[in-house]
Amino acid sequence: MTAAALYDRYRRVLAQEHLPCAVVDLDAFESNIDTLLAPARAAHKTLRPATKSLRCPELLRRIAERGDGVVRGLMCYAVAEAAWLVEQGFDDLFVAYPSCQPSDARTLAALNAGGATVALMVDDAEQLPCLETAAREVGCAIPVLIEVDMSWRPLGGALHVGVRRSPLHDVDAALALAERIAGSEHLRFRGVMGYEAQIAGLQDDNPFAPLMNGPKRLLKSLSRGPVRALRQSLAQGLKERGIPCPVFNGGGTGSIHWSPGDEALTEVTAGSGFLDSHLFDYFVGVELQPAAFFAVQAVRRPASNIVTCHGGGWVASGEAGADKLPRPWLPEGLKLLDLEGMGEVQTPVVVPAGTRIALGDPVLFRHAKAGELAEHVTSYLLVRGDEIVGRAPTYRGEGECF
Ligand SMILES: Cc1ncc(COP(=O)(O)O)c(C=O)c1O
Repeated sequence: MTAAALYDRYRRVLAQEHLPCAVVDLDAFESNIDTLLAPARAAHKTLRPATKSLRCPELLRRIAERGDGVVRGLMCYAVAEAAWLVEQGFDDLFVAYPSCQPSDARTLAALNAGGATVALMVDDAEQLPCLETAAREVGCAIPVLIEVDMSWRPLGGALHVGVRRSPLHDVDAALALAERIAGSEHLRFRGVMGYEAQIAGLQDDNPFAPLMNGPKRLLKSLSRGPVRALRQSLAQGLKERGIPCPVFNGGGTGSIHWSPGDEALTEVTAGSGFLDSHLFDYFVGVELQPAAFFAVQAVRRPASNIVTCHGGGWVASGEAGADKLPRPWLPEGLKLLDLEGMGEVQTPVVVPAGTRIALGDPVLFRHAKAGELAEHVTSYLLVRGDEIVGRAPTYRGEGECF
C-alpha cells in the first residue's frame, strides 16, 4: 500500500475519533510478532516480552496467544508493576531492574509465597539482605537473577563501551554472587541476564548522526565475540559448581537475528519491535512495520506551506537529541521546524509541495520509544484494515503509573 493510500485509510478510520489519540494497527502488530518470534522459534528458544516497551495488558496477551508456546513469561520493569500483572493473570515474571526498597521486597515475598513466580534482578551482595529479611518474615525464598555486564571492555577494562548497569564484569565476580545466593535459605537462584545493550540498542544507520554509523557498526561487530565468550563461561561455571540456571536471558529487538543463536541463552527478550517505534527503523536487517502511531489535528495554517497541529510533545527518554523526538509519519514528507521541534500544545510542520492537509485533518506521528507512547494515552485504538475493532487500555488507562 502506498503512503498516500495508508494515510487516506487512517484519516477515514479516525474521522469520528477525538484527537489526540494513539493507534495500534493489528495487521502490522501481528506481522511484527511473527517476525520477532521466527528467529527464537528456529533456535528452539523462548521469547520473553519486555513490558516496558508495551505497557498495555491486552497487547501482552495478544503476543502470548500468537506466540503459541514460543512466548514465555514477561520481563517487567518494576515490582509494583509485576504484582499488578500477576493480578491480571500473568505468571513467570522477572523484574529486570533492581529495587532496594523493603516494601518491594515484602511484595515479592508475598507474591512468591502465594504461588506466583516473580523474580528480581540483583547484581550486588548489598541488595540481598533486604530481600532475605522479607522472605524470612513470610517463610519463603525469593527467586533472584543476577545481571552480568555485557559491555565491551577492551584493554583489560580500561575502556567501557556499553551501558552502566551491573558491576559484575567478569565470570569470577558473577559466580561469587551466584554462590552467595544459592547458599541462602531465603533466596533461590533463578538465573542470569546478560543484556548486550551495545549490540541490541545501538542503531547501524541513524540519519541523525550519520558520521557515527561506521564506528558503531564496527564496535557492534567487535563486541559480539566477547559477549558470546562471557556468556559461555558463565553457563559453564555455574554448571561446574552445580548451580542450576533455569533462565539465561539476553537480547533485544535490535539483536533479534543474532542473540537466539547464542547457545548459552535459554531465552531472548524483545519489546519495542512489536510496535516498531521509529528508533528501530535504523537497524540493518530488522524488518518491522510501523504498528503504533499517534494522531493530532491540524488546526491552523501560519504560512502557505505550514500547518500547526494541536498537541505534540511526547519526547523520548535517553541521551537528548533530535532522534528522541516523534517523527511526522503521514502524510509523507512532513518536517518539524528546527526552532520549535515538538511543542507541547502546538506543533508546526512543513508540508511538502503537492500535499494538502485540511484544517481538522489528522497528522500522524511515530514515537521514538514504543513503551513511552502508552504513558500519554489511556487506551490504544485497535485498528484492522478500515475499522476500529477495539480499545485496549494502557497502564495509565487502568489507573496505574509505575
Ligand atoms: C534488560 C533488557 N533486556 C532487553 C531489552 C530490549 O528491549 P527492546 O526490545 O524494547 O529494545 C531492554 C531494553 O532496554 C532491557 O533493558
